[in-house]
Amino acid sequence: MPTSLAHHYHQALRDQDILHQLHTHYPDGPTLHQLAPLDQLHIGGIAASTRLLELLEPNTQHVLDIGAGLGGLMRQGAELGLHITGLDITHRFSALNQAISRLALGHQGTGPTRGTLHWVTGDACALPFANASFDAVLFQHSLMNMPDPDKVLAQCRRVLRPGGQLVMHEVVSGPNSEALLFPVPWAEGPAHSHLLSLPELTQTLEASGFKIQHCEDWSHTALEWRQRQRQKEQAPRTAVLSPQWVFGERFMCMGKHLLENLANGAINVVEISARC
Ligand SMILES: C[S@@+](CC[C@H](N)C(=O)[O-])C[C@H]1O[C@@H](n2cnc3c(N)ncnc32)[C@H](O)[C@@H]1O
Repeated sequence: MPTSLAHHYHQALRDQDILHQLHTHYPDGPTLHQLAPLDQLHIGGIAASTRLLELLEPNTQHVLDIGAGLGGLMRQGAELGLHITGLDITHRFSALNQAISRLALGHQGTGPTRGTLHWVTGDACALPFANASFDAVLFQHSLMNMPDPDKVLAQCRRVLRPGGQLVMHEVVSGPNSEALLFPVPWAEGPAHSHLLSLPELTQTLEASGFKIQHCEDWSHTALEWRQRQRQKEQAPRTAVLSPQWVFGERFMCMGKHLLENLANGAINVVEISARC
């Protein structure tokens, strides 16, 4: 029997140590870049989140980030004036996301263009929101943990206003999917890894009533980014924060596998924008 997905994510999480570290090193509040090694839990880091946010339509205001994790994307979005709700099934991630946001606000202040942030612990299969309550829904390395994408996408359509937008930055299975090595950051083993191929993902989106407007495979850039990260991870430790504060020592093996999985074509990284 596999452990729960939340257990996978929180078993090594050093919540109190992270907050103490942030207070100690950044008494005026951390910047988005200082937080990035901790709160951008996906391939491509802060630049990938910038890319994703640039795909949003100019009039977007109310956004749901599904599988928000520690909230790097949310805080970047709020800086652009978006009102973002972050939903996550791992309650300790939601709680830490909220606590980090309070500290980061100390640094960023509150300007007239600042958006708002809300945090909800819940399952994407049963979104606890009213119909047509969001302009856009985001997935950043989270659909890949979900065993029933049809159900999740039906929920997305329900909470999106007519004509609303869905934007994804996801891992999909690559041409050499049988070579996938575990553990990876999103799963210890196959029980929590639900990668679709890109054709399967686009078909699933279309069958759920979404019209694809942009679809880009940026695995090559992802591989280069991961190679640079791997070099940093192997250098003597000087970083204030790193993914080890979330995943523990397991991350050394997870990070190595991420690189190998990208290099051997077991996984690809894609960006998709669609409308309903
Ligand atoms: C790899 S992390 C990515 C976190 C964040 N999106 C990021 O890129 O930094 C995947 C996140 O999705 C969340 N998640 C997975 N399945 C979920 C579900 N069914 N409902 C809500 N959240 C889920 C996990 O708890 C985890 O925080």
